[in-house]
Amino acid sequence: MPFRIRKGKAGAAPERHDSGTGDEDSVAQDIRCRRRGFRCRRTGRAGSATGRAEAGMTRVVLISGSLRRGSVNSAALRAVRRIVESAPGAPEAVSLPIGRLPFYDGDVERAGASPAVRAARVLVADADALVVSTPSYNGAVPGVLKNALDWLSRPDGASPLTGRVVAVLSASPSGRGAIDAQPALMDLLDACEAVVVEHPPVAIRRADRRLDEAGEMSDPEVLAALRGLVDATFEAVAILADQRCSASARRGRPAPAQLRRAVSGAETRTSEVAL
Ligand SMILES: Cc1cc2nc3c(=O)[nH]c(=O)nc-3n(C[C@H](O)[C@H](O)[C@H](O)COP(=O)(O)O)c2cc1C
Repeated sequence: MPFRIRKGKAGAAPERHDSGTGDEDSVAQDIRCRRRGFRCRRTGRAGSATGRAEAGMTRVVLISGSLRRGSVNSAALRAVRRIVESAPGAPEAVSLPIGRLPFYDGDVERAGASPAVRAARVLVADADALVVSTPSYNGAVPGVLKNALDWLSRPDGASPLTGRVVAVLSASPSGRGAIDAQPALMDLLDACEAVVVEHPPVAIRRADRRLDEAGEMSDPEVLAALRGLVDATFEAVAILADQRCSASARRGRPAPAQLRRAVSGAETRTSEVAL
């Protein structure tokens, strides 16, 4: 499968290729093919481990859209953390506790934001990539996650999300795995000029049944899907690092501007995925 990085605004209807198992309890692995203005092709790297080494990954920030102690999204991200930290080079995986952020308030921002907001911005600015896991609240992302991304989208023109690689997943006890929240989350990340990793959707359905006695995601199918997402994320970081280097060397311009131009363009959007 060609590797693509998702970027840009909503557009026309997508092509769709579903490769689900048909098993009601299986992890969603539907493959969405979208036309993108920017396409990252595999560049002859010999597998994901090589991609990771070239990427020089040091830090991944994990954001759960749920504050619940027993959250299945947070459990999924704990599994992501274990996968990331066992990768070559042992990158660090750090959780960003978004429940500590105040409601966005322009007056608070003008006054210098809060320590929690400043710390969140620094954490994201220092990260190679983010992994965001969301529940679906009435078909959209929870307000607390929207609030966090709104803070991180600031200040205008210097957001730590701009050009940041972000992978998205969702989890829910329901039969749809909260996949209906993913388009809204991707729209939001596009608006923040993040670089969303294109990957077969990972939507963990019946997620509560996939936890072990310790409350951890131990289901092999889920772990395989999360490994795939992490590999795609690392590869995206490696490819973008290559692009930034070559764009800088070629034109002598600041790499982030090159990158943003490279990833802009006509986009498609998946609004519905059959599980
Ligand atoms: C306000 C609210 C709205 C919800 N809306 C949906 C929904 O539209 N679809 C769905 O599958 N689940 C919905 N749920 C159920 C959540 O997906 C479920 O609570 C899930 O476990 C939350 O994720 P967590 O375990 O990570 O906290 C809703 C829950 C709340 C509190």
